[in-house]
Amino acid sequence: MAKVTVVGAGNVGATCANVLAVNEVANEVVLLDVKEGVAEGKAMDIMQTAQLMGFDTVVTGTTNDYTLTADSDVCVITSGIPRKPGMTREELLGVNSGIVKSVAANLLKYSPNTIIVVISNPMDTMTYLSLKSLGLPKNRIIGMGGCLDSSRFKYFLSQALGCNANEVEGLVIGGHGDTTMIPLTRLATYKGMPVANFLSAEKIEEVKASTMVGGATLTKLLGTSAWMAPGAAGSFVVESILKDQKKMITSCVALDGEYGESDICIGVPVVLGRNGVEKIIEIELTAEEKAAFKASADAVRSNNVVLKEINAI
Ligand code: 2OP
Repeated sequence: MAKVTVVGAGNVGATCANVLAVNEVANEVVLLDVKEGVAEGKAMDIMQTAQLMGFDTVVTGTTNDYTLTADSDVCVITSGIPRKPGMTREELLGVNSGIVKSVAANLLKYSPNTIIVVISNPMDTMTYLSLKSLGLPKNRIIGMGGCLDSSRFKYFLSQALGCNANEVEGLVIGGHGDTTMIPLTRLATYKGMPVANFLSAEKIEEVKASTMVGGATLTKLLGTSAWMAPGAAGSFVVESILKDQKKMITSCVALDGEYGESDICIGVPVVLGRNGVEKIIEIELTAEEKAAFKASADAVRSNNVVLKEINAI
């Protein structure tokens, strides 16, 4: 028996709850939102697909009643305002930090043993804020960004290769920002073979650039932040945890000397299982990749400093 709470019944939260249900990741999913009736409505809408999709997961909605979230195994935070076209994720910091901090505290009050998955943007900063404000062990706070960015990387690689995206492997490490993410092109493979065997250096650079602005491209097209892949990535992370799948998924986690960084939450490959972050995988990076990771960490850290300046932590 597993229970998941998803806070925020906007596009990302509702999609996450839907994928959790359709894939029967948990027996019970509670969707919570501050807007009167929205979570209840979206939960009911999802439940009316149960017999069409053939799932048994029970999804319920609530307007801000945290007692109904009690004893959740995993809580997913999607609350906050999304990006508008032309905005960076970082511009959301001021507004979203207040929201995420209070949501995280409320969740922990009713689910003291929960693992928390953070999706709200700026995701690296909101993960760090959750870690610092809740004071939980670092294995229990996980930011979703790298899973999403890696999925987008594999999509763009498959488009360039003209192949099935499931036959491509690739990791994106670093921050979840247009300029901070690092698609590791050197390690990307098609059926186990380096993509450089199939694509020109120029094409690989194009794939890298498209991946980095993957979210911004969608925000421009949609007029708001994307939700299908972010919601599915949230569910993917939760599934590896709840089903103890021990998948290696790039996630935003607290580093304590790994990759030469400390006191920061940033994207690196980790093994996710029933204990949350079970292992941080340290890849041997080239000098160029190391420099990119350092620059990414510096940028992520500059937002953590803002959290201190505005007394959020
Ligand atoms: C994105 O990249 C929502 O940050 C998310 O689409």
